Amino acid sequence: MPENRCMQGIWSNPWLFILAASGSAVGLGNIWKFPYMVGENGGGAFLFVYFLCLFLVGLPVLIAEVALGRSVRSNPIDTINDLHERRIVTKGWVLVPYLAGLAGFLILSFYSVIAGWALAFFERSLAGVFSSVTKDETQAIFSALIGSPKEMLLWHSVFVLIVILVVGQSVTRGLAMLVKMLLPALILMLLGLAVYASIVGDFDKTLTFLFSWNWSHITTDVVLAAVGHAFFSLSIGMGGMFAYAAYMSKHMSIVRACTIVVGVDTLVAILAGLVVLPLVFSLNIDLDTGPSLTFVSLPVAFGRLPGGQGVGSVFFLLLILAALTSAITMLELFVAWLHERFYVSRLKAAFILGLGVWLLGLMSLLSLNEWKEIHFFGFTIFDFLDKFTSLILLPIVALLLSILVALRIPRSMLQNELITREPTHFKWWYNVLKFCSIPIMVVITVAGWIGV
Ligand code: TRP
Repeated sequence: MPENRCMQGIWSNPWLFILAASGSAVGLGNIWKFPYMVGENGGGAFLFVYFLCLFLVGLPVLIAEVALGRSVRSNPIDTINDLHERRIVTKGWVLVPYLAGLAGFLILSFYSVIAGWALAFFERSLAGVFSSVTKDETQAIFSALIGSPKEMLLWHSVFVLIVILVVGQSVTRGLAMLVKMLLPALILMLLGLAVYASIVGDFDKTLTFLFSWNWSHITTDVVLAAVGHAFFSLSIGMGGMFAYAAYMSKHMSIVRACTIVVGVDTLVAILAGLVVLPLVFSLNIDLDTGPSLTFVSLPVAFGRLPGGQGVGSVFFLLLILAALTSAITMLELFVAWLHERFYVSRLKAAFILGLGVWLLGLMSLLSLNEWKEIHFFGFTIFDFLDKFTSLILLPIVALLLSILVALRIPRSMLQNELITREPTHFKWWYNVLKFCSIPIMVVITVAGWIGV
């Protein structure tokens, strides 16, 4: 096992894990993706299934990832190798953490393209482009950005470079401090914007859309979308949370810590929905608009707000920082591993991986314009990567990880983590994981394979 990280005294602050994990969870998934997923998938039906997924799959799997991470205090790759050497798991399991790292790598490639949109909108907001802008104008601004590979390349490159420089340092402490300021600022800002959107937008229609549904709206596609998004939004199935658990205080309750992370993540997503949807309804924007929804609707509100230029700029800055604290986790697994195993400096490791991410991102970016016609299994490269990671890769890794924790590794290994200190929590979690989360993930994985 590599050197124990407790040497660095990182565990002295019990909140570090919660901050780092929340920083990873809260990101573009909450503010950019959640509103349009709700819009595309029928509102209340999606929300209902999403909540079920959070409690029946998301939270139990997150607890499994964190419990394993804290019990071994090591990175996922070395952990599984070690379990294999101790003959607890067979050779095939050694592949699982690489799949997890691959998920992070693939996700980052298109995530940085979206973060690039946020950078571009930040710049436009600073320049005052959004003052008194109409819906058609923001739509045109967005389309112009998507249609310009050169500009997207610039912002994509800037974002990847920042990620490389940040991941290149050993940053957990700094990251946690950033998140400590970022999260309250983001939540306050979204709260303020939600109040504003409820006044100028169509709040009644939003509430009806979000909180009413009938069974016929719950289709296989809605269920798949909700589960996939739960994995994406909670950053599970990728080993990032596993790595952060190594920094977690022994005295902290895992169930409580993970519940807080899920709560914060969901709060930010719901708030983002309450900001974007009332605007979408009052501006008559099509709910099926997809990935551009947040970027088209919000600037109209900023354009009308007194001091909106400043508000818009601060908002996009917070969005970029939230994306950054998520993006860092996606590379962390491989960077830490290359560093610990091969003694490559963190910066060099981050640079090598970042270059790969940048190149793959380039393909996603071109698939939005010049390569629009190139399709993989009926999807553009961008959509394919998005769907493949959320609907197939993350559920598979999460499933394998849950099987590992629930059925393979000896209970005694988890003893200190949950059984001794939280016996009722342990029973509850263990049974839900075994009899509910795992069967659901098996069904989802099979359905994902058939569907995509
Ligand atoms: N959860 C982040 C978001 O909502 C995205 C993210 C970060 C992620 N790390 C991840 C997604 C790992 C999947 C796997 O924006």
